[in-house]
Amino acid sequence: MAFPDQFILELKQNNPIDNVMSSYVSLIRRGRNCVCLCPFHSEKSPSCTVYLDNNSFYCFGCGTGGDVITFVMKIENLDYVEAIKFLADRVGMSMPDEAKNNEASRIKARVLEINRTAARFFYDTLTRSPEGEKGRRYFAERQLSPATITKYGLGYAPDDWYKLSNFLRSKGFSEEELITANLCGRGRNGGIFDSFRDRVMFPIIDLRGNVIAFGGRIIDGSGPKYLNSSDTPVFKKSRNLFSLNYAKKSEEKRLILAEGYMDVIAINQAGFENVVATLGTALTQEQARLMSQYAEEVIIAYDSDGAGQNATHKAINLLSEVGVRTKIIHMDGAKDPDEYIKKFGAARFKQLLDKSGGAIEFELEKCKNGLNIDNDDGKIEYLKRCVNVLADISSPIEREVYIGRLAETNRVNKDMLLQQVEGTIKRRINKAKSQEWTEIRTFQKQYKSNPDSYRHPKEYKAEVGIIAFVAANPDEAEYISQRIAPDHFVTDFNRKVYRVMIEKIKNSAFSDIHSLQSEFTADEMGKITEIAINCKDVNINKTAVDDFINILISSDDNSVDIKDMSNDAFLKYIQNLKNKK
Ligand code: UTP
Ligand code: MN
Repeated sequence: MAFPDQFILELKQNNPIDNVMSSYVSLIRRGRNCVCLCPFHSEKSPSCTVYLDNNSFYCFGCGTGGDVITFVMKIENLDYVEAIKFLADRVGMSMPDEAKNNEASRIKARVLEINRTAARFFYDTLTRSPEGEKGRRYFAERQLSPATITKYGLGYAPDDWYKLSNFLRSKGFSEEELITANLCGRGRNGGIFDSFRDRVMFPIIDLRGNVIAFGGRIIDGSGPKYLNSSDTPVFKKSRNLFSLNYAKKSEEKRLILAEGYMDVIAINQAGFENVVATLGTALTQEQARLMSQYAEEVIIAYDSDGAGQNATHKAINLLSEVGVRTKIIHMDGAKDPDEYIKKFGAARFKQLLDKSGGAIEFELEKCKNGLNIDNDDGKIEYLKRCVNVLADISSPIEREVYIGRLAETNRVNKDMLLQQVEGTIKRRINKAKSQEWTEIRTFQKQYKSNPDSYRHPKEYKAEVGIIAFVAANPDEAEYISQRIAPDHFVTDFNRKVYRVMIEKIKNSAFSDIHSLQSEFTADEMGKITEIAINCKDVNINKTAVDDFINILISSDDNSVDIKDMSNDAFLKYIQNLKNKK
């Protein structure tokens, strides 16, 4: 489907990429561009760059990139036409007429219609057919009220291979469409059969109120407890949350995250509207980001077993990566929220929510796993683990508070504990430093061929990085050359390589590093090729290049001879160079 150029142009103008992206990630201005934590892969420091001048983005970490339309396609999981519609709606532009009967959107609309019809069928079967008695009994046993059943549109899939498909076909849906919707499979005899049989049904509803998928639970018998729709044109399980359609309406800026459908429904029925669950998988980064759009704080209410604890640990990390505070409820005397509420009631559950501890309490508590802290060995091991957790806390004040508390409850000397934690932090810093040191030395060795490099290791590294980047991205040459002239290069050889390369690119006489052949000897070409090859594996992005440029610009004539420096002196020297910029 082709749109008029003028339309696309206008659409993009009306939807500046930084404006659109900032509703998903927080952008940090850096020079002419912005950077952010990449929304498409998990990372702790920003490697996704947003180029404001040409309205594009690129992540140097995972290689995702493109214009604002690509961004929306990826982040909203839409096809091209839908993404355009999304952007047009966003700024109140109307779509060109030809766009309205697109094939992909037609299929999606059909699948949604099938799902809605099927949900109605399951609901009717549950509530008003004789065979629904089995489902009715089940939900009654689980203490779900009729109001809750209606609210969630719960249903029952009859114990029959063809009932749903026959019904849907009588409504005019084709076999192919039913298979696409994942409600039917194709048998060996060529016919189709119902996928969900003799199960209580949980429709999954998106934020617009569409039924996008189903989960079905067996009532008795063996086999996996739940059957879930796999991904379809309208459903991607890693991007949706059960009951978010209700939770988003809650006034609270916090969400409760439970493990299963039944927990969510029980918690909701107990009066807490702000509860969600994932759809049969562990929490994903996309879901964490989705939650961050509705909540500043998430209370994790996973099952109290080992699996639940591990899942909690992972969820804490994912949520904190997207800037959401986490609290964890600790349930005594029940395996999950559903059971807890049944046993102790909604009021007690509310108390549990209110006194839920933070992530650090949870991690400290977890340190006790498998230990008997009543005996000395157990206690020592426990405190050692705690020290590692405490060393992770970045705020000194917060650290101090937890150290004080831990010292008190375990009756150990607070200063001793403080020393241990500070020691651990120092060791970690040293380790990071020495890694950096090794990296620089290795780099040096690789390029020993350039004698100047020994005297200017940091600058040398920066120069090589710039050369490699320009060689790989000739279209950036103009920008880079405006920022840094060859004169700033410290080593003679690299200065020449850079100068020649920039000239060649300017004269359109450069296709890759081999275009430099006319100006260098074969030996020299070897060195240059080595630079290009070695740098291919190293992740040099625009941010790194900016750092390199700064190093060169701010470098005085540091012709110190570092050959005889001790490791420590060398590290200090590097540190100084770094601080100067
Ligand atoms: P649970 O076993 O805790 O389910 O699994 P639940 O919702 O509490 O249901 P009850 O209380 O046993 O009836 C948590 C979630 O994991 C997924 C489902 O999404 C479930 O809600 N799951 C579990 C599956 O997808 N398949 C399974 O076989 C089991
Ligand atoms: Mn459960």
